[in-house]
Amino acid sequence: MTPLASLLVERIREAGPITVAEYMADCLLHPVHGYYTTREPFGTKGDFITAPEISQMFGELFGLALAQAWLDRGAPSPFTLAELGPGRGTLMADMLRATRGVRGFHAAARVVLVEASPRLRTLQAATLAPFCAPTWVDHIDDLPQAPLFLIANEFLDALPIRQFLRQPGGWHERLIGLQDGRLAFGLSDPLPQVPDTPAFQDAPVGALVEYGLPARQSVASVASRIALHGGLSFWIDYGGWRSCGDTLQALRAHAFDDPLAHPGRADLTAHVDFEALVPAGLAHAYDTQGSVLGRLGIAARADRLAKNLTGLALENHLAAHRRLTHPEEMGSVFKVLALTSAAAPLPPGFAP
Ligand SMILES: C[S@@+](CC[C@H](N)C(=O)[O-])C[C@H]1O[C@@H](n2cnc3c(N)ncnc32)[C@H](O)[C@@H]1O
Repeated sequence: MTPLASLLVERIREAGPITVAEYMADCLLHPVHGYYTTREPFGTKGDFITAPEISQMFGELFGLALAQAWLDRGAPSPFTLAELGPGRGTLMADMLRATRGVRGFHAAARVVLVEASPRLRTLQAATLAPFCAPTWVDHIDDLPQAPLFLIANEFLDALPIRQFLRQPGGWHERLIGLQDGRLAFGLSDPLPQVPDTPAFQDAPVGALVEYGLPARQSVASVASRIALHGGLSFWIDYGGWRSCGDTLQALRAHAFDDPLAHPGRADLTAHVDFEALVPAGLAHAYDTQGSVLGRLGIAARADRLAKNLTGLALENHLAAHRRLTHPEEMGSVFKVLALTSAAAPLPPGFAP
């Protein structure tokens, strides 16, 4: 049993079962035993690899897309260039390197990072030292009131979700309790009410519906700044327009794990339900990662980089291009949601 599992067992013995959201929050960000608080999980030696860690092209193209959107919106100065959950800081570093030639962009940008893990903040500071002096805030609500150009890659999937099961007698919440002294899934008593959303309204008996309040609050907080001050946000994650069923998953050393087996030592995520996130009053565009990167010019950029490579480096580069864009790899399962002011031009990377 992991140290966090022992703490959770003790807590459940004393206070009763916990929700999936409470479990996720502790597993990921417990101040002593949380996954992101204690480790650096990215890359081939970690538990998973994210798009910016696969190839510099990802950050370069999204950086240029944000810079183009900034120009299209009148080049406001100053503005906030923000990232949510920046991991090792690789995405922001690639975005800043690629946009050095965009006149006025860096001079006007105030780089702000939203990161909960003190350990990862230290790493981000080191990665970004050659490019900028960012400031960190604990919460999205602490972002400055200013024009906002923001990116969040694999941030929403790390936010806690609750799970609800529709049975013939009504809705029950999926809870985590104890069986033979170990963590085990169970169900609450029937609930008097559940969130009033299309996913709940349309669910047949037997359906499991996930509800992520922190993801909704995160997008709403960013949206309110964009509605007031202008800007654009890109939300990139795996999921669907309406993600269905039980999508809670644990990853450890690049393999799926039982979500209850190693609390604090495995990454825990849930697919993002993009439909639930679109706020009223903003324009949105939505497409697959492969299509968006294609329109942003990844093929031309990949060819350009390939010209300087040979042997294994060239093979790895071609594999990275395929991995980011091919429908059987990350190209389809990862989606991009762009949110911008109602009257603003279509964000780069999207077709009308
Ligand atoms: C899966 S990693 C993605 C890292 C990076 N965006 C990338 O693509 O490589 C999730 C990131 O979100 C951060 N994070 C998770 N929950 C958070 C929260 N509630 N507030 C701020 N940061 C959070 C983690 O510490 C980590 O940096």
